[in-house]
Amino acid sequence: MTRATSTVIAIDGPAASGKGTLARKLARHYDFAYLDTGSLYRAVGQAVLAAGGNPADEAAALAAAKALDVNRIDERAIRSREAGEAASIVAAMPAVRAAILHFQRNFATNPPGGKDGAVLDGRDIGTVVCPEAKAKLFVTASPEVRAQRRWLELKVSGSAVGEAQILDDIRERDQRDAERAASPMKPAADAYLLDTSNLSIEAAFGAAVAIIDKAMS
Ligand code: DC
Repeated sequence: MTRATSTVIAIDGPAASGKGTLARKLARHYDFAYLDTGSLYRAVGQAVLAAGGNPADEAAALAAAKALDVNRIDERAIRSREAGEAASIVAAMPAVRAAILHFQRNFATNPPGGKDGAVLDGRDIGTVVCPEAKAKLFVTASPEVRAQRRWLELKVSGSAVGEAQILDDIRERDQRDAERAASPMKPAADAYLLDTSNLSIEAAFGAAVAIIDKAMS
């Protein structure tokens, strides 16, 4: 039996822009599968750290990417500040990106659970992973708003890191993610920009659905 083509929604944007929350809600709304591609890079970075390695060591990072088992990702461990930092370092390596590209594309074209489509969020979904996506959003927010969101998240999980430190981290990661040569973070030419700085989650969701419904009609 031939499978109908999967409908792909690409959600890109910087750290703590609200893209993950939005992408999850969109997947539920359209009854599509959801893939947080940042979790793959985080899992690779975390695996290197857990083995006592240095995330800047390309051989160690590539070995971790090749050994990645997406069904065994420790959701708690990959959310730490250190794992986020390590993820940004390994994500700049073309060989690491190549090692997990196939999994991401396969998820998009053959969504698990027999779903008719998939929502993927990351940095290069609309530009590299799924340039053919039916709808593309690039979700942004000011660095200050993003730092405050991330600070609140980390505080709830028991972390005592200050907001100023998180703002520094965010600026550093933005720069590394946007300036790397391999699949840098940037809006696809046909992406809709959605600035969530002054939007509640519900307002951002409403705006995204309006854009996506139009793109899919
Ligand atoms: O979205 P996040 O903060 O969980 O992503 C962690 C890191 O992974 C981020 O610094 C950039 C990288 N990343 C990437 O390069 N490409 C993606 N598609 C997703 C994440």
